[in-house]
Amino acid sequence: MQSPIKPESPEVIAKIYRLYREYFDQAERRRRWNVREDIPWDQCNPELDPAIADVVQTFCTVELYLPDYVSKLMPQVRGNHGRAWMIANWGYEESKHSMVFGDWLLRSGHRTEEQMADLDTDTFSKEWDLPHDNGVAMICYTTVQELATWLHYRNLREIVVRHGDPALAKVLSLVATDERAHYDFFMKVVRIYLEHDRPGTLEQLRRVINEFKMPATHMLIDGKRRVQAVQDMRIFDYDIFYTDVFEPVIRALGVTKAELRRRKSPREIMVVGASS
Ligand SMILES: [Fe+2]
Ligand SMILES: [Fe+2]
Repeated sequence: MQSPIKPESPEVIAKIYRLYREYFDQAERRRRWNVREDIPWDQCNPELDPAIADVVQTFCTVELYLPDYVSKLMPQVRGNHGRAWMIANWGYEESKHSMVFGDWLLRSGHRTEEQMADLDTDTFSKEWDLPHDNGVAMICYTTVQELATWLHYRNLREIVVRHGDPALAKVLSLVATDERAHYDFFMKVVRIYLEHDRPGTLEQLRRVINEFKMPATHMLIDGKRRVQAVQDMRIFDYDIFYTDVFEPVIRALGVTKAELRRRKSPREIMVVGASS
């Protein structure tokens, strides 16, 4: 039996807006960075392993689907002040990620202007679609995806530090910090939805976890090879997803694995405290 999603109450909308104001104030105070000025661009390493540069291109491309992310997420949340403003602010922060990866690919000499122009053309010729058709599933999806993205960048950064490229290491550290902040915000929003409508939110979370894939990777030219390269370098794979994404997310939400497996009547789903 499926649990219907309970409509958002004015209290839920007000709580999310307060959360967004805290997020925004903190981002303005502590987390703004500048693509041109905050990276030691004279310390790019043109000799860096080309396989690493290729992974940077993969991540740059996934970030390039921003017009689809913003334009398709916004209609789902336009009646929710905090979530809509977050999409606008999140879009600004995400827009810097593809720019800074693209700048590194160019300045390090790993890609030419022509190659980057081809990448844009190819990326924009395809359109990303929402993996889920409602705003509750999408906030669950985005929470999982942001933590997974943070891990991708943190793990790639460790490899880059070993190989030596202070510019790329700094890029990855700034971008990873943004992704972590996104995860923290979306996680708090999912907690609000769980408090408001536990059975309906759990149903959506269950769908998201069972079907989770990183955004847009299947749309890239030679996407399978690119995903394989990320796995081969141990940047991200199923085991990392399970132990470093799935388990921490459900722990932080106070949800048990049994609850996610359960498909009984919503009334039978017990409320589980955050400490479980
Ligand atoms: Fe990003
Ligand atoms: Fe993000």
